[in-house]
Amino acid sequence: MNRFENKVALVTGSTQGIGAACALRLAADGADIILNGHSPKDERSEKLIQQIEGMGRRAAFIQADVGKVADVTKLINDAVSTFGQLDILVNNAGVEKNHDFWDVTEEDYDYVMDTNLKGVFFGIQAFVKYCMSTNRGGVVINMSSVHEEIIFPHFAAYCTSKGGLKMLTRNLATELAPLNIRVNNVAPGAIATPINKKLEETPKLMENVLKNIPMKRMGKPEDVAALVAFLASDDATYVTGSTYFVDGGLTYHYEEQ
Ligand code: NAI
Ligand code: BGC
Repeated sequence: MNRFENKVALVTGSTQGIGAACALRLAADGADIILNGHSPKDERSEKLIQQIEGMGRRAAFIQADVGKVADVTKLINDAVSTFGQLDILVNNAGVEKNHDFWDVTEEDYDYVMDTNLKGVFFGIQAFVKYCMSTNRGGVVINMSSVHEEIIFPHFAAYCTSKGGLKMLTRNLATELAPLNIRVNNVAPGAIATPINKKLEETPKLMENVLKNIPMKRMGKPEDVAALVAFLASDDATYVTGSTYFVDGGLTYHYEEQ
């Protein structure tokens, strides 16, 4: 499928997990890809670049800490310069910290909020300035979580950040619609990625999680990427300002027997 022909997509935090799957899926559907990671380019990004180039697309890696406003702004500008344009921004990078609420330090809080919310806010701002200066529309997809909606005890800062993303998306969709910029959230449930390493390695935790998932399995990064590709595409030109769940039924799950 070539639905992203002549489009360039930036996926933040895309050297592994959901971000890598999004990069590969958007490339498979025809986009050129800017990969991003916090750390310097390593063999994972090299391999992804080779895979994407093997699909006949262009790919590049830009190192940036999206939790720092100067870095994320530079990332957007460098992404534009790399292939001369930027059409799709997938704000995927995210972190979580498991702490009792009373033990969360300011450093923990800032780490989570800066990466998951502040970086997204100012990354979108830089993207919007670029779109305005070039008179182009654009698509923004924020990787939120089922925890923009449902609670996650011991992850208060994480839930705060994803709850913030929910309102950011609703607000921006209205403000940016006149600029032909669409903004949506994708809210994954429990997906098998390195962020869930401890969960996958702890049978009791896994048993508890699966009780909450009607489809009785963890999601795959590719399940999330397929939804991202739809929202980024012209099939979704009338879709903005909402959150789309990809969670095996987790969010609205309830049963008594
Ligand atoms: P992951 O830990 O495998 O990937 C996160 C990526 O973000 C990593 O590549 C990491 O290096 C990058 N990253 C972290 N901080 C960064 C920074 N400051 N600058 C640049 N890159 C940074 O986790 P996963 O699961 O792939 O998570 C991706 C997104 O999906 C996150 O926003 C997460 O909150 C969200 N999510 C994940 C779920 C899951 O069950 N795996 C469920 C719901 C949401
Ligand atoms: C978290 C995962 C968790 C999933 C379902 C995600 O936002 O990052 O750690 O397994 O939600 O609770």
